[in-house]
Amino acid sequence: MRRALLLAGLLAALVAPAAAQAPPNWSEDEIRAVGRHGPWPPPAVRDPSNRVSGTPAGIALGEHLFNDPRLSGDGRMSCATCHQAGRDWSDGQPKGIGTVPLDRRTPSLWNVGYGHWFGWDGAGDSLWAQSIRPIVDPREMANAAARVGRLLREDGQLACGYRRAFGVSPGADDEQLLVDAAKALAAFQETLVSPRTAFDDFRDALVGGDRQAMARYGASEQRGLRFFVEAGNCSTCHFGPRFTNGEFGDVGIPFFVRPGEVDSGRLGGLARLFDSPFNLLGRYNDDTTGASARRTRHVQRLHANFGEFRVPGLRQVGRAGAYMHNGSVGTLEEVVRHYSEVSPDRLHSDGTPLVRPLGMSPQQSTDLVAFLRSLDAEPPPRPAPPPLCP
Ligand code: HEC
Ligand code: HEC
Repeated sequence: MRRALLLAGLLAALVAPAAAQAPPNWSEDEIRAVGRHGPWPPPAVRDPSNRVSGTPAGIALGEHLFNDPRLSGDGRMSCATCHQAGRDWSDGQPKGIGTVPLDRRTPSLWNVGYGHWFGWDGAGDSLWAQSIRPIVDPREMANAAARVGRLLREDGQLACGYRRAFGVSPGADDEQLLVDAAKALAAFQETLVSPRTAFDDFRDALVGGDRQAMARYGASEQRGLRFFVEAGNCSTCHFGPRFTNGEFGDVGIPFFVRPGEVDSGRLGGLARLFDSPFNLLGRYNDDTTGASARRTRHVQRLHANFGEFRVPGLRQVGRAGAYMHNGSVGTLEEVVRHYSEVSPDRLHSDGTPLVRPLGMSPQQSTDLVAFLRSLDAEPPPRPAPPPLCP
């Protein structure tokens, strides 16, 4: 039996090379499927729940606050401690600092402004609400609204930056100032858009029928891309220009953290979302139309949400040091092996399973990794921000 398999494998290897080397012929349906992963970059974000979203003065204040360790209780930790520009806005570690007991990985902030749920478990329904959490979490920056308020009122640069962004001087309401600081932080983070990649050039060439430009993208990458949108079913969840549908899924990553500790994922996230005074149903939402709160108003906490985590976007994915919500997978090759071999017993999703063991050949795995790596590009260097109020 083994020998027969071996022989068959050898034969396949002898006849396969021509097929394995060639780029695929793209059908109309496949071209449409690839087209949906662009164009890139998308239009700039404008969040109606945040009145300084998209404003230059809000963005400038946010960038200063992002890098300012005085935003933490002991003055030693800033957002940039864990979300480092030189590490694709993450920390390069499998587990983030201060995530005990759940031991989660620090996500990259590339393209974060285009999402609608935030955090691995979706506990935030706006980027500004999500930005409040680390400031006041005792395991992270361990600060309090009163100290943030005092900082904005008493520091000349920040007070001036606040005035330019919000049109008034920082007032006496500390909680309001905490929220406003988070809104400026969100405005800045909305500008973190990842660079164009080799994939984007190919996607545009394919959609435009430019064969010469298409040929600049490797045959292996092309085959991997076709697998991604077709047989692999990856595009169902890793959908659209950011390669995420912004929702949640269970792909069979263990949710046991340590004996006695389970990460319930979205189930717990929704409980925290509803408890938060900063969610979009609360008084800090700047959108008077109510439209931005629609998702939050209608979302329900279902048992099926247990063990679901947010579908990560895949741009710049090959540059990360570890994968999944808990950093438990070390390389892209291992991610692909996971999808190839995942045990159906590990999945507990109801209805049609979107994830099933794909049983990929070594060539298919290599191609898929080559495609995923074509979603990476070196970002341009960032100049230091100018002073807020020269
Ligand atoms: C001590 C490390 C640490 C610090 C400091 C920190 N973060 Fe994070 N950040 C994390 C971790 C870990 C997560 C994932 C949390 C989770 O989902 O449970 C995260 C998640 C996020 C997310 C959600 C991203 C997404 O894809 O949904 C945003 C936005 C964010 N942080 C912004 C900030 C801002 C703004 C600051 C400063 C006010 C900050 N972070 C400070 C570690 C940190
Ligand atoms: C059912 C929806 C779904 C499908 C189908 C799916 N994924 Fe995922 N993917 C996810 C979710 C959810 C995570 C995060 C899981 C976690 O952290 O526990 C993830 C994580 C990943 C990651 C790690 C990203 C990171 O930053 O940690 C990669 C890479 C990836 N998927 C690639 C693929 C590929 C390739 C396919 C097709 C073979 C695929 N996915 C199919 C939902 C899906």
